[in-house]
Amino acid sequence: MKSIQVGLLGIGTVGSGVFNVLKRNQPEIMRRAGRGIEITMVADLDTARAQAIVGTGVKVVDDARAIIANPDIDIVVELIGGYGIAKQLVMEAIAAGKHVVTANKALLAVHGTEIFAAASSKGVMVAFEAAVAGGIPIIKALREGLTANSIQWIAGIINGTTNFILSEMRDKGLDFEVVLKEAQRLGYAEADPTFDIEGVDAAHKATIMSAIAFGIPVQFDKAYIEGITKLGAQDIRYAEQLGYRIKLLGITKRTAKGIELRVHPSLVPAKRLIANVEGAMNAVMVQGDAVGTTLYYGKGAGSEPTASAVIADLVDITRLHTADPLQRVPHLAFQPDAMSDLPV
Ligand code: HSE
Repeated sequence: MKSIQVGLLGIGTVGSGVFNVLKRNQPEIMRRAGRGIEITMVADLDTARAQAIVGTGVKVVDDARAIIANPDIDIVVELIGGYGIAKQLVMEAIAAGKHVVTANKALLAVHGTEIFAAASSKGVMVAFEAAVAGGIPIIKALREGLTANSIQWIAGIINGTTNFILSEMRDKGLDFEVVLKEAQRLGYAEADPTFDIEGVDAAHKATIMSAIAFGIPVQFDKAYIEGITKLGAQDIRYAEQLGYRIKLLGITKRTAKGIELRVHPSLVPAKRLIANVEGAMNAVMVQGDAVGTTLYYGKGAGSEPTASAVIADLVDITRLHTADPLQRVPHLAFQPDAMSDLPV
């Protein structure tokens, strides 16, 4: 069967991760997806840099619409970010009948209702595992593993930049500005780091989780948002002396009055697992009525962790386009990847 053909819009940190991981793990990914997944086109304004990343076998263009117009492309991966041109291109890709995979939390938190409605009327998928908590498969956990539950609340460290800043300020006594620059250098921070430090990025992700968990429209405008810019070294020190850590938490909760959605610095008892999530790591706690409390931990940003989530979405969409019904819900029919025995 012919490979699924993918076009990438943007090949920066995440895009190059997607290209490299797909290439490195191609045989396993192909077996699990039921057919090959091939990046055949890339659009980026810096075509020379893009071509250097993907080599000569992939067509590089500077016009994203050349990908959307190509009838051979099955899935468009949007890695541009923001809600300007990225929104137009996602809507055009949907209108052209392409499935879309995106890591763009801002776009979905603000315009998700319109985008999902457009996708539904065209019968295409918009997949977004990478938009929340990077490599942690939290969207899958909410939609699949926890599907039997009435979700009571979700609380998480869902912005790596601010967790990194709070950890470094506490452990090394470094200044806010110094650590923020380091987070930018390491590629955790958004292009505009205001979104990170003011809690907006975490609110985008909490908004998406809230919609999935409670079956409500995305409502970013209803979120209460407070970042970490008003915190000083002494707040962190005093919290420590009282047996707490300060963490920027994204919280969404079912209450008698409706769904709460908020992001703010919180005092977390130092003994709690989530208080010990350090650096740029993310952790999300989900409370379901049947399962109780569950915790998901991992890298919430960075090239390959985010690529891991993007590729999981590519595999999911590909599985729906294979002939074998058992491939479509793979956990119902386990087949080993390799037939070799364990070494004895
Ligand atoms: N700026 C984000 C963070 C990147 O620091 O978590 C991943 O969404």
